[in-house]
Amino acid sequence: MRLADRVAVVTGAARGQGEAVAQRFAHEGARVVMADREADGVEIAAADIRRQGGVAVPVAADITVAEEVAAIVETARREFGALHVLYNNAGIYLSNEDAPTADLPESVFDRNIAVNLKGTYLCCHYAIPLLIKSGNGVILNVGSVASYAGDPTAHAYAAAKGGLLAYTRSIATHYGVQGLRANVICPGFIDTPMVEDFMNQPDIRERIIQSTMLRRVGKAEEVANLAVFLASDEASFITGAVFAIDGGLIK
Ligand SMILES: NC(=O)c1ccc[n+]([C@@H]2O[C@H](COP(=O)([O-])OP(=O)(O)OC[C@H]3O[C@@H](n4cnc5c(N)ncnc54)[C@H](O)[C@@H]3O)[C@@H](O)[C@H]2O)c1
Repeated sequence: MRLADRVAVVTGAARGQGEAVAQRFAHEGARVVMADREADGVEIAAADIRRQGGVAVPVAADITVAEEVAAIVETARREFGALHVLYNNAGIYLSNEDAPTADLPESVFDRNIAVNLKGTYLCCHYAIPLLIKSGNGVILNVGSVASYAGDPTAHAYAAAKGGLLAYTRSIATHYGVQGLRANVICPGFIDTPMVEDFMNQPDIRERIIQSTMLRRVGKAEEVANLAVFLASDEASFITGAVFAIDGGLIK
């Protein structure tokens, strides 16, 4: 098992990619703290892992609230005495509210930054001392193809996800000497509840498929495959890097 004896925190773990990553981490031997603002959802997702023989503890927490983030990390320390992997996945995509800048309300911009960028900072802030203590800590921040390609109609999302690139590299640069690795995973279109409404608009799904080299959208489990590799010792010389997982999106 590739993550035996490891303790991982996965945020946004109630559904979608976060749930798939938590499932896969547990399957690979990690003990997983699953955090999400959806208390019932994360409870059910963790119970599912336990039913399959894995070790998973749910925490109801909003990553924009410092005390709640501190409680996520404290759960890892209290339950398992360590933390090796932080998977910063929780995020929002406000497809009906995000907009080109001239039409973008300040409140929508702020909300994007609060969740997609500052939430990640808060998780890193509280987790890094434990990750360093582990001697081989790993941070994986979930960006998007919008991190580097931008998003023509969702400027707030692109700004927040773009910020993660420089932020992650800064962490990797500063803490590498202490054995901490930090990388960014940038998914393209992945079939999850986040993009369900957006992709169900007439023609959108087909247009996305036609602009993808593999002519399909991705699955959460495919992102989990990359996540488990980057979290494991197989990726021991990989840090400060950005990984697109987008089926070959034609930009
Ligand atoms: N699905 C895609 O096509 C796609 C593409 C690029 C990037 N991403 C990114 O991948 C990550 C996972 O997305 P997904 O597709 O699984 O989305 P999803 O909406 O299915 O799941 C996101 C989860 O994060 C949780 N969450 C949101 N805000 C939170 C907060 N403040 N505190 C705690 N939990 C919170 C939600 O409750 C939900 O369970 C996100 O960061 C997203 O931006 C997704």
